[in-house]
Amino acid sequence: MNLNGLIVREAGNDDYRSLVELEQKVIDAERPFNVPLKEKGAYYYDIEKLISDLDSRLIVGEIRGDIVATGYVQVRRSKPALEHDNHGYLVFMYVAEEYRGLGLNKVVLQDLVSWGQQRGVTDFYLDAYAENASAVRAYEKFGFRGSLLEMKLNLES
Ligand SMILES: CC(C)(COP(=O)(O)OP(=O)(O)OC[C@H]1O[C@@H](n2cnc3c(N)ncnc32)[C@H](O)[C@@H]1OP(=O)(O)O)[C@@H](O)C(=O)NCCC(=O)NCCS
Repeated sequence: MNLNGLIVREAGNDDYRSLVELEQKVIDAERPFNVPLKEKGAYYYDIEKLISDLDSRLIVGEIRGDIVATGYVQVRRSKPALEHDNHGYLVFMYVAEEYRGLGLNKVVLQDLVSWGQQRGVTDFYLDAYAENASAVRAYEKFGFRGSLLEMKLNLES
């Protein structure tokens, strides 16, 4: 497998159905790392809004008409204590299984970060499960470093 013929473009309304399916693939990929995720009816994103929101960019990587990668960045207000007023928040990072390990996520990240930079954003954040080794590896290769650690307590088990 290689990335010949790759087109990276902004997602449009015609991509809605494919994106809803790919959202489920992201959820399935994360299921092993988050046991309380609902078996059915789990949704992460408001995809219609992601497509139309002017303060965000949702892109797809397409090879020969098939969507093989997704990614999204939104410009958000930062906490008042921080030097930067805004930051880019990245989500919906997905690469089709047969195209993994080829640096496709890097192409997606580069596009989204460049788009943010053009809007004056210098700081970017994303959430990843610590045990999602290929995701953590992909983000570290791009330059991301671990920061906040989410801790949780479950009183039922
Ligand atoms: C996370 C993800 C987007 C990374 O995309 P990618 O284009 O494969 O990223 P990279 O090519 O930079 O590879 C990252 C790492 O994945 C691992 N990897 C390599 N080949 C792989 C393969 N065939 N299958 C799975 N993982 C592989 C390697 O550790 C690689 O690092 P290395 O190149 O230094 O060995 C992709 O794995 C994915 O879609 N996973 C499922 C959804 C998900 O977990 N999204 C992240 C939510 S935070």
